Amino acid sequence: MTRTQSWIGFLATGLLLISLAMVVIREPALQSRAATTQLQTAVVQGVDIYLENCVVCHGASGEGLGVYPALNAIAEMDPVELYRTIERGRYATQMAAYGIDEGGILSQAQIESLVSLIQNVDWNSVYTIADARDLIPPEMVVAEIPEETMTMVSELVDGERLSDGLTLYAENCTSCHGINMEGTVLAPALDTDTLRATETYELARIIEQGVPGTLMAGWDNALDDEQVDSLVALILRWPDIQTAGVEIPVVEAEPLDMSPEAIASGERLFSITCTSCHGIDGYGSPLAPALNNILFLDSTSDAAMRQIIAMGVNGTVMPAWGGRFSDAQINAIIAYLRSLQPTAPTITQSQ
Ligand code: HEC
Ligand code: HEC
Ligand code: HEC
Repeated sequence: MTRTQSWIGFLATGLLLISLAMVVIREPALQSRAATTQLQTAVVQGVDIYLENCVVCHGASGEGLGVYPALNAIAEMDPVELYRTIERGRYATQMAAYGIDEGGILSQAQIESLVSLIQNVDWNSVYTIADARDLIPPEMVVAEIPEETMTMVSELVDGERLSDGLTLYAENCTSCHGINMEGTVLAPALDTDTLRATETYELARIIEQGVPGTLMAGWDNALDDEQVDSLVALILRWPDIQTAGVEIPVVEAEPLDMSPEAIASGERLFSITCTSCHGIDGYGSPLAPALNNILFLDSTSDAAMRQIIAMGVNGTVMPAWGGRFSDAQINAIIAYLRSLQPTAPTITQSQ
């Protein structure tokens, strides 16, 4: 942090205190000086905890990033409910349970200061402090899907749909399900008669919603209905395509840039967005398993890591980062994780 940045941070904290004092003055029940000071302390502590743990999903202005809800308009929410949400999380969503008693990392006093923050803070000051500390999370980027012409497939019956499906499959599914749908250590084969006997709507549902608690993410945020239909058609008509002798277009992953710059940039992104759950230097925390772990690093390919980071782990608090980070940023994070491999410890216990 530069000297100017720390001054900005200092000034922003000052502004935050002034704006809070105004809130308190407007609130007759809190007109005593002691109450003002107490509230100010809580909110200032809350900002630090917020920036360390919550900003990656709820945004530096509490505006909510992507699919994550805003917190800047829920000041009126029942404080007990607010406390409970942070302490216990929301079941089967990416909102983790942060309370120590619930397996999380925050004490009662820390959660109380977050509640004070949400109820009283001027979110512009939070943004200014985040900015001064260089903690503004990266903006959402739109994943680009390159067009590919697949003449042979297009010439089959309903070929347009199949070629779309094939392009989508090559881009999104091969790292886990294999280039020819033959399956890998990470995921089952999709080229099976059993799967082809499954109802169309059921296949679409699996692709859209995923299988909770497994690496099969729900793709409904990344793919529209038509794209899901193309993938379903591709799975059902796979034998036709093979009979036609079509070569599968493998989208070549760019070789990982392991330059010191890439690793440093990955380390920075990791420390802003991942350490709150995966621990400092990826050593793990009660919220998420260690990634700085030889078993994980040895058994997971770059392509698989890319998919897991981009799509998240459905039904757990592991978020999908694909909408947030560019491919280059995800690659930088992977380069950083790879740089830990030579010294990574063996951790057998999983969370
Ligand atoms: C990985 C992303 C993520 C992180 C990190 C995260 N949350 Fe959430 N949060 C969510 C999601 C998703 C929901 C919506 C859950 C649901 O559908 O009910 C949510 C909901 C909430 C709600 C309820 C909002 C409402 O309108 O009902 C509060 C309050 C909240 N989070 C506070 C926090 C606090 C405080 C932190 C940091 C300690 C935090 N969150 C960290 C994803 C996250
Ligand atoms: C990060 C790895 C991963 C990626 C990427 C992935 N899947 Fe999966 N998929 C899985 C796993 C693991 C399962 C098995 C889930 C279970 O245990 O039921 C699965 C299951 C499925 C099933 C159900 C198979 C069955 O026999 O029940 C379908 C269909 C499927 N995936 C389609 C896709 C499609 C289409 C894509 C690309 C858009 C895709 N998957 C991408 C990991 C992945
Ligand atoms: C809100 C908490 C949270 C955040 C933030 C988070 N993760 Fe995770 N992550 C998890 C959890 C929980 C799991 C384990 C999911 C499961 O049960 O399979 C996980 C699993 C993973 C895995 C798979 C590990 C394995 O052993 O298979 C990778 C890779 C990963 N996360 C990378 C990241 C990266 C990179 C970031 C930052 C961009 C990140 N995570 C941020 C909670 C989080």
